[in-house]
Amino acid sequence: MKKELRLTVNGQPYELTIKPKTLLVEVLRNNLGLTGTKRGCESSSCGVCSIILNGMAVKSCSILALQADGAEITTVEGLAKGDQYHPLQKAFLDYGAYQCGFCTPGMLASAKAFLDENPNPTEEQIREAIDGNVCRCTGYNSIIRAMTAVVNGEYREEK
Ligand code: FES
Ligand code: FES
Repeated sequence: MKKELRLTVNGQPYELTIKPKTLLVEVLRNNLGLTGTKRGCESSSCGVCSIILNGMAVKSCSILALQADGAEITTVEGLAKGDQYHPLQKAFLDYGAYQCGFCTPGMLASAKAFLDENPNPTEEQIREAIDGNVCRCTGYNSIIRAMTAVVNGEYREEK
Protein backbone atom coordinates (compact mmCIF):
# COMPACT_ATOMS: atom_id res chain seq x y z
CA MET A 1 0.00 0.00 0.00
CA LYS A 2 1.31 3.45 -0.87
CA LYS A 3 1.79 6.22 1.68
CA GLU A 4 1.66 9.99 1.63
CA LEU A 5 4.91 11.90 2.15
CA ARG A 6 5.41 15.61 2.70
CA LEU A 7 8.83 17.18 2.41
CA THR A 8 10.27 20.64 1.95
CA VAL A 9 13.32 20.37 -0.26
CA ASN A 10 15.49 23.38 -1.03
CA GLY A 11 12.66 25.59 0.17
CA GLN A 12 10.01 24.00 -2.02
CA PRO A 13 7.15 21.95 -0.52
CA TYR A 14 6.32 18.55 -2.03
CA GLU A 15 3.50 16.06 -1.47
CA LEU A 16 4.15 12.60 -2.83
CA THR A 17 2.69 9.12 -2.72
CA ILE A 18 5.35 6.45 -2.35
CA LYS A 19 5.90 2.81 -1.46
CA PRO A 20 6.75 2.47 2.25
CA LYS A 21 10.19 1.00 1.62
CA THR A 22 11.37 3.77 -0.69
CA LEU A 23 14.68 5.26 0.42
CA LEU A 24 15.07 8.99 0.82
CA VAL A 25 17.81 9.04 -1.84
CA GLU A 26 15.39 7.41 -4.27
CA VAL A 27 12.72 10.03 -3.64
CA LEU A 28 15.21 12.85 -4.11
CA ARG A 29 16.66 11.47 -7.32
CA ASN A 30 13.77 9.60 -8.91
CA ASN A 31 10.66 11.45 -7.76
CA LEU A 32 12.05 14.98 -7.48
CA GLY A 33 14.76 14.77 -10.16
CA LEU A 34 17.43 16.11 -7.78
CA THR A 35 20.23 13.97 -9.17
CA GLY A 36 23.01 16.03 -7.60
CA THR A 37 22.75 13.65 -4.64
CA LYS A 38 24.59 10.49 -5.68
CA ARG A 39 24.14 6.80 -4.96
CA GLY A 40 27.26 4.83 -4.13
CA CYS A 41 27.73 2.07 -1.57
CA GLU A 42 24.12 2.24 -0.33
CA SER A 43 25.35 0.90 2.99
CA SER A 44 26.07 4.13 4.87
CA SER A 45 29.83 3.97 4.22
CA CYS A 46 30.81 6.35 1.41
CA GLY A 47 28.79 9.51 2.08
CA VAL A 48 28.07 10.41 -1.55
CA CYS A 49 24.35 10.47 -0.74
CA SER A 50 24.77 12.99 2.13
CA ILE A 51 22.14 15.69 2.41
CA ILE A 52 21.06 18.11 5.14
CA LEU A 53 17.93 17.00 7.00
CA ASN A 54 16.56 19.41 9.60
CA GLY A 55 20.04 20.96 9.87
CA MET A 56 21.98 17.73 10.20
CA ALA A 57 24.07 15.96 7.57
CA VAL A 58 22.63 12.49 7.01
CA LYS A 59 23.19 9.71 4.53
CA SER A 60 20.04 9.55 2.46
CA CYS A 61 20.66 5.91 1.46
CA SER A 62 20.22 4.86 5.05
CA ILE A 63 16.85 6.51 5.70
CA LEU A 64 13.41 5.51 4.53
CA ALA A 65 11.75 8.48 2.91
CA LEU A 66 8.81 8.11 5.29
CA GLN A 67 11.17 8.63 8.24
CA ALA A 68 11.78 12.10 6.83
CA ASP A 69 8.06 12.95 6.60
CA GLY A 70 7.62 16.65 7.38
CA ALA A 71 11.35 17.38 7.23
CA GLU A 72 13.23 20.32 5.76
CA ILE A 73 15.92 19.06 3.41
CA THR A 74 18.73 20.78 1.59
CA THR A 75 20.53 19.07 -1.27
CA VAL A 76 23.46 20.35 -3.28
CA GLU A 77 20.97 21.98 -5.68
CA GLY A 78 19.82 24.20 -2.81
CA LEU A 79 23.20 25.64 -1.88
CA ALA A 80 23.48 28.36 -4.50
CA LYS A 81 21.26 31.41 -4.35
CA GLY A 82 20.19 32.11 -7.90
CA ASP A 83 23.39 32.41 -9.90
CA GLN A 84 25.49 32.98 -6.75
CA TYR A 85 27.37 29.94 -5.57
CA HIS A 86 27.47 29.21 -1.85
CA PRO A 87 30.84 30.20 -0.28
CA LEU A 88 31.75 26.53 0.06
CA GLN A 89 31.08 25.96 -3.62
CA LYS A 90 33.27 28.94 -4.55
CA ALA A 91 36.05 27.72 -2.28
CA PHE A 92 35.85 24.16 -3.65
CA LEU A 93 36.21 25.58 -7.15
CA ASP A 94 39.10 27.89 -6.29
CA TYR A 95 40.99 25.35 -4.20
CA GLY A 96 40.49 22.48 -6.62
CA ALA A 97 38.69 20.48 -3.94
CA TYR A 98 37.28 18.04 -6.48
CA GLN A 99 38.46 15.97 -9.40
CA CYS A 100 35.85 13.53 -10.71
CA GLY A 101 33.25 15.35 -8.58
CA PHE A 102 31.33 12.24 -7.56
CA CYS A 103 31.84 12.84 -3.84
CA THR A 104 31.39 16.62 -4.09
CA PRO A 105 27.62 17.02 -3.52
CA GLY A 106 27.74 14.88 -0.39
CA MET A 107 30.97 16.51 0.76
CA LEU A 108 29.41 19.97 0.37
CA ALA A 109 26.31 18.90 2.30
CA SER A 110 28.40 17.54 5.16
CA ALA A 111 30.65 20.62 5.12
CA LYS A 112 27.72 23.03 5.18
CA ALA A 113 25.86 21.28 8.00
CA PHE A 114 29.08 21.16 10.00
CA LEU A 115 30.09 24.80 9.50
CA ASP A 116 26.53 26.02 10.16
CA GLU A 117 26.78 24.29 13.53
CA ASN A 118 30.44 25.08 14.22
CA PRO A 119 31.69 28.14 12.30
CA ASN A 120 35.14 28.23 13.92
CA PRO A 121 36.45 24.67 13.92
CA THR A 122 40.02 23.50 14.19
CA GLU A 123 41.55 21.64 11.27
CA GLU A 124 41.20 18.43 13.25
CA GLN A 125 37.48 19.07 13.73
CA ILE A 126 37.11 19.72 10.00
CA ARG A 127 38.81 16.41 9.23
CA GLU A 128 36.54 14.62 11.68
CA ALA A 129 33.46 16.29 10.22
CA ILE A 130 34.07 14.83 6.77
CA ASP A 131 35.44 11.47 7.78
CA GLY A 132 32.17 9.83 6.71
CA ASN A 133 32.61 11.16 3.18
CA VAL A 134 34.99 9.16 1.03
CA CYS A 135 36.93 10.90 -1.74
CA ARG A 136 39.02 8.66 -3.96
CA CYS A 137 40.60 11.50 -5.93
CA THR A 138 41.79 14.49 -3.96
CA GLY A 139 43.58 13.10 -0.92
CA TYR A 140 41.36 15.45 1.12
CA ASN A 141 43.93 18.24 1.62
CA SER A 142 42.37 20.54 -0.98
CA ILE A 143 38.96 19.94 0.62
CA ILE A 144 40.35 20.85 4.04
CA ARG A 145 41.99 23.97 2.57
CA ALA A 146 38.72 25.03 0.93
CA MET A 147 36.75 24.58 4.14
CA THR A 148 39.43 26.41 6.10
CA ALA A 149 39.25 29.33 3.65
CA VAL A 150 35.51 29.62 4.35
CA VAL A 151 36.15 29.44 8.10
CA ASN A 152 38.74 32.23 7.71
CA GLY A 153 36.21 34.48 5.98
CA GLU A 154 37.85 34.33 2.57
CA TYR A 155 34.41 33.58 1.09
CA ARG A 156 31.18 35.12 2.27
CA GLU A 157 27.57 34.65 1.37
CA GLU A 158 26.28 37.38 -0.95
CA LYS A 159 23.51 39.43 0.71
S1 FES B 1 25.48 5.73 -0.94
FE1 FES B 1 24.88 6.41 1.02
S2 FES B 1 26.68 6.24 2.22
FE2 FES B 1 27.28 5.40 0.29
S1 FES C 1 36.59 14.14 -6.38
FE1 FES C 1 36.47 12.07 -7.12
S2 FES C 1 35.79 10.99 -5.39
FE2 FES C 1 36.13 12.97 -4.61
